[in-house]
Amino acid sequence: MTVKIRSENLNLFYGQFHALMDVNIAIKPQAITAIIGPSGCGKSTLLRCFNRLNELIPTVRTTGRILLDDHDIFAPDTDLPRLRKRVGMVFQRPNPFPLSVFDNVAYGLRVHAMRSSRAEVEAVVESSLRATMLWDALKDRLTLPALELSAEQQQRLCISRLVAVEPEVLLMDEPCSTLDPGATEHVEELMRTLARQYTIIIVTHNMQQAARVSAETGFMLLGQLIEFGPTRAIFTNPSDRRTEDYVTGRYG
Ligand SMILES: Nc1ncnc2c1ncn2[C@@H]1O[C@H](COP(=O)(O)OP(=O)(O)OP(=O)(O)O)[C@@H](O)[C@H]1O
Ligand SMILES: [Mg+2]
Repeated sequence: MTVKIRSENLNLFYGQFHALMDVNIAIKPQAITAIIGPSGCGKSTLLRCFNRLNELIPTVRTTGRILLDDHDIFAPDTDLPRLRKRVGMVFQRPNPFPLSVFDNVAYGLRVHAMRSSRAEVEAVVESSLRATMLWDALKDRLTLPALELSAEQQQRLCISRLVAVEPEVLLMDEPCSTLDPGATEHVEELMRTLARQYTIIIVTHNMQQAARVSAETGFMLLGQLIEFGPTRAIFTNPSDRRTEDYVTGRYG
């Protein structure tokens, strides 16, 4: 089995608080992996480990290893901006910049100095908006302020912004939690399409969503990864009693 991201004995502390305990997980490439579990169990913390975003919090200490394509992301020679370009993050609330649609998508190209000519930037903006199926709706309104878009379009735009810099992994932390059911369905459809090209890890409170979109699912409880495996097995035939209690709705 090929693996895109692997954690080995991953532990994370917020000061004295032990938030992740010996997490060992292997994420398949070009597939959707879901992380589920009750509030506060460490889902977002785990997700933020994969591009070292937790390190923006001063009290955080991490032990263990995370391998991205077999290379340890904690190695001293890791280029953090490059890591975060390869492993992009979609947040719960869409967070477009207060710029035009065009400038949101072109933003990362400028930061990473990836394209030089105007024509090249325009081509990437178009292909990135096509990738999230926004192009037809927005091609005549590229100067519109992004904050005037609907919530669903804003979330799609944030995904376009990541796609523009050619990531390998997309981390999505409850990306549909502020969307209505129709928009949620559209974004799930988009995720399935994107998974043909990218490795996607989604955190969700919505077990139906995990069951609908993911190939593999991990169940977390109190900082531990209790069970990890094919989504169907996690939902229909879990091997741990705690997983069964959660997926049958016995925990909050
Ligand atoms: N910056 C921080 N400083 C201290 N403790 C934190 C910090 N961020 C999270 N925690 C704690 O770490 C634990 C895991 O938090 P995390 O946000 O990863 O959980 P979660 O599973 O994503 O929860 P939710 O479903 O509510 O989003 C919680 O007990 C939380 O209070
Ligand atoms: Mg969270």
